[in-house]
Amino acid sequence: MHRFPFTIARRFDPEEHDSAVRTNTIPANARERLLRSARKAMKNAHAPYSNFRVGAAILTDRGKIFAGCNVENASYGMTNCAERTAIFSAVAELGPKMEIRAVAVTNDHGVPCSPCGACRQVIYEFGPDATVFYEGAHGPKQSHIAELLPEGFRLK
Ligand code: THU
Repeated sequence: MHRFPFTIARRFDPEEHDSAVRTNTIPANARERLLRSARKAMKNAHAPYSNFRVGAAILTDRGKIFAGCNVENASYGMTNCAERTAIFSAVAELGPKMEIRAVAVTNDHGVPCSPCGACRQVIYEFGPDATVFYEGAHGPKQSHIAELLPEGFRLK
């Protein structure tokens, strides 16, 4: 039998990489609620420079949902992504002890869009065990935050 000469990457198993990572299963109805909130917030995006509207929603450990959209600026670097808008809004209302169980991200182009590197680090700060739902290269996808951000930074 012909053997492929390279090692084929196996499915990422967080348990194998970080014993502190637990499985955080989000029920389908919670996922759908999150996605609906993300889509609704997306409509409020301020994206006149990229014309790329993004919506995000987070589910907290206490079952509350907070949504956000991207807010761009004429000084491009000042742009805030939808994910961070949602997270900062949750912190503003609940305080910094709030924990993120899940994040959903949507965009108005129906194209692949996973959280950017900066947002992954911010998700990790409040949700080291968070499940992230997003549009992957081959359709809707779900990843553990540690899979998107291995060795996330923590100030200890
Ligand atoms: N953007 C987000 O809001 N979230 C993402 O996950 C990826 C990118 C925004 C930033 C900017 O306003 C626009 O999408 C284009 O990069």
